[in-house]
Order: sequence, then C-alpha cells, then structure tokens
Amino acid sequence: MNFSKKIINWYKNNHRKLPWRETRNPYYVLVSEFMLQKTKVSKTIKYYLDFIKKFPDIEKLAHAEEKEVLKKWEGLGYYARARYLHLFAKQLVKKKPSGFFPKTYKELIKYKGIGPYTGAAVASICFDEVIPALDGNAYRVFSRYIGIYHNITSFGAKNIFRFFILKIMDHNDPGIFNQAIMDLGSTLCTPRKAKCIYCPVKSSCFSFKNGTIYDLPVKNIIKKPVVHRFFYYVFIWDKKNNHLCIHKRNNKDIWKGLYDFPLIESEKNLSISEIIDKIWTKFRIISDSIIYQIIHKLTHQTLFIQFLNCRIIQNIQKEKYFDNFFFIPHEKIVEYPFPRPITLFLKHEKMI
Ligand code: ADE
Repeated sequence: MNFSKKIINWYKNNHRKLPWRETRNPYYVLVSEFMLQKTKVSKTIKYYLDFIKKFPDIEKLAHAEEKEVLKKWEGLGYYARARYLHLFAKQLVKKKPSGFFPKTYKELIKYKGIGPYTGAAVASICFDEVIPALDGNAYRVFSRYIGIYHNITSFGAKNIFRFFILKIMDHNDPGIFNQAIMDLGSTLCTPRKAKCIYCPVKSSCFSFKNGTIYDLPVKNIIKKPVVHRFFYYVFIWDKKNNHLCIHKRNNKDIWKGLYDFPLIESEKNLSISEIIDKIWTKFRIISDSIIYQIIHKLTHQTLFIQFLNCRIIQNIQKEKYFDNFFFIPHEKIVEYPFPRPITLFLKHEKMI
C-alpha cells in the first residue's frame, strides 16, 4: 500500500469527529478554518456551533452588524479573523449571482484573511482541488516522513514542500488526505512524545528509520521581544440611571471594533497620583481608587491593566463630554463585544 492509501485508511478508523467535518458546505468549512487558524480544536467546537447557529448562511453573516459578529467571536481572540470573515461575506453577496462562492485555491486566496493554508484546506475539502494544506502539523509530518531539512519558516519552503507532497498526495480524495495529515500531526506525529509505534506510515518514514524524529522540522523563529504596556481604565457607572460609559476601539490594533472604557495608556508603570492626574487632565474626571487589576498576556505583549472607579463632577451632557465614549444602560452590556480583560472585570463587578 502506498503512503496515501495508508494515511486515508488510518483516517477512516481514527479521525476526530468534528462538527465541521459533517459538511462540505464551503461557508461552514471556511468558518471553521478561520477559527482554527489560531485556536485549538477543543476550544473551536463551541464557537463554531454558536456562530453557524447565529449566522447559518453567508447572507445572514453579510447582513449582520460588525458588533454582532464580534460578539460571537468574543473570547476567541485575534479578532481580525472575524472582521475579515465578515468582509468576505459582504463582498460575496455583492457579487452576481449573490453568494457565489470562489471554488479554487487561486480565487480563495484573493480575499483578505484567507492565506495559503485556509485557501488550500477549503479548496481541497469542499471542491476536491489537489493542493496540500500546509500548517505547522503538516510541515512536521512531511519534513519527518520525507526527510526535508529545509527551514519551514523560510521564503520558498511552501513550494519545496508542495513539490514533494504532490508526488505522494491522494488525487481522488485530497480533502480527506489533508485532514488525515492534520489528525496525524496532532495526535501521533506530535512535537514531543511522538507515538510512532501507532503510525500507519512508520515503515517508510525517513526520520523513524534514522532516529531523527526530533531534529525535524527545521525552523528558525526569531522571537519578537515582548512589549509591556500599562492600561488605566476609567470606569464610570452612573448608578442613578444605571448607565455605564463605554468606548468603541477604532485603532488599528488587535481589539479593533471591540468595546472598552475610556483609557489612559502608558509605557511605564504609573503611581496612583500620576494616574489620577492624567485622568483629570485628559478627561476632567475624578478617580477614587483602583478596584481591579489584571495581567493579560498576548503573543507579543503583556498588558498590565488597572481599573479605576471614577465619577463625573460637572453636570454636563454626557454624550457631548466624551468624543468616542457613550453611555449604555446596564442591560445592554450583553450586546457589546469586549476584550477578555473587560469581560473579566465586568464579571468581577457582577455586572454580567
Ligand atoms: N486545524 C486546521 N484545520 C483543521 C481541520 N479542518 N480539522 C482539524 N484541525 C484543523
């Protein structure tokens, strides 16, 4: 039996049963692949099911408000994925006939947020295109199996790998083949403690034969230094009207489109008097005390976040007072998507 046949047979008996594998509807598969770009399978399942329940087809997604889409993505992180998925849906329904789905790898990767991996996964799973879907798992499996010592993070690695994989890839069932490699890479051919004895292709695996499993894949990751940022959030809760002050983030950053509170940001840790002073200078607001603090770690940043209980002293028209800030009734909080630290804070305050 050749490589493909062994891999596909193994998949038939051992694959993970995942909800997005019950369909070849390209919209559903695309939603799952967007989520899986940065999120583990176990965490993705619930988000995927909730998302397609709320937006069961591409038209529903296209006609949704950005706020609703981000709300369904809340807690999953890397929110640009949700914005690009939404944009994709909007672009598609504008086309004639409406909702016409791009069916080839080449067409798919023209859209923002659809990279070579996602494009290849969707094209192979939904449209039987013979194209390897290369993510970290696939690079590991193939570099070990074939014995490719080319640096997987280098320019050109993709084409070198594709060249070799296309020779052994199943041409009848490319989607199943790609998914089998995903599963092999995440269950047996793992970075550490690989379970080679259960591997269906060990007898022809270059690294197994040569005892070099853990030498591969070769990667040369230059680690970006972690930046420290200090956030001081101004929390204003108008208890009389039961309204709270929130702010939409429009900056070009990871939380774009989400909501938080008026913010003082600093590159260094500030003393309480400096914070109070800055809040007064920027917003003309009096702060009482720090009521909550949290350290939030992102891939290349660590955020040291403090929340200050604040009050407005002047009798002013609230909407005019803050440019980008507005007050919402307490019961409307559930409609707004927040970054994780804000959700934790609101839970701590028993507001959600
Ligand atoms: N990781 C990325 N895409 C996947 C898929 N379709 N199934 C399981 N894991 C994945």
